[in-house]
Amino acid sequence: MTSEETEELTRRYRAAMARLPGGVAVLAARAGGHDVVAVVTSFVSVSLDPPTALVVVHSAGRLGEVLDVGSRWAATVMGADSAPHVAWIAEPGRPDIGQLQGIAHHRGDTSGAAVLDGGGSWVECVTEQVLDAGDHLVVVGRVTDAGPGEAEGALVHRLGRVRALP
Ligand SMILES: Cc1cc2nc3c(=O)[nH]c(=O)nc-3n(C[C@H](O)[C@H](O)[C@H](O)COP(=O)(O)O)c2cc1C
Repeated sequence: MTSEETEELTRRYRAAMARLPGGVAVLAARAGGHDVVAVVTSFVSVSLDPPTALVVVHSAGRLGEVLDVGSRWAATVMGADSAPHVAWIAEPGRPDIGQLQGIAHHRGDTSGAAVLDGGGSWVECVTEQVLDAGDHLVVVGRVTDAGPGEAEGALVHRLGRVRALP
């Protein structure tokens, strides 16, 4: 394939995937005494027996550096009213320290990672496998706990926009 053909395929692939609605979650881990968080649409269930989930993170991103095998993390499935918090957490170049300043959260019992109070549910995991895939890492986690949150509805990302679902 020529580089023009590769670019064209990438463009068509991106456009095709942009139409797929993605549920918005906030992924959080602890590193060096700080919360490392990112907005993701790649958090999905893998298996119920045993409970297993996966998330795909950019290898060069801050979470990509901390989700090795044995690491613990939490995913909060964000509620319909949490778009402003999601926009802030997704802001490129936000500081390393104080990423959740002003955003209500508590520590998950089994992960120590941040669970956001603006969530409709949450899942805590310990990383079991990490697979290199292109410029991303597929992080497979054994679920250590999960539960409901107080928020109503959900956020969905499609065609470059985050929208609320009731
Ligand atoms: C709606 C939405 C979905 C995203 N989904 C992912 C994702 O699934 N995986 C990922 O690595 N980054 C995703 N990102 C980008 C991350 O939120 C983050 O900006 C990126 O990983 C860089 O993180 P860093 O600045 O902390 O290194 C998404 C961003 C938005 C706005």
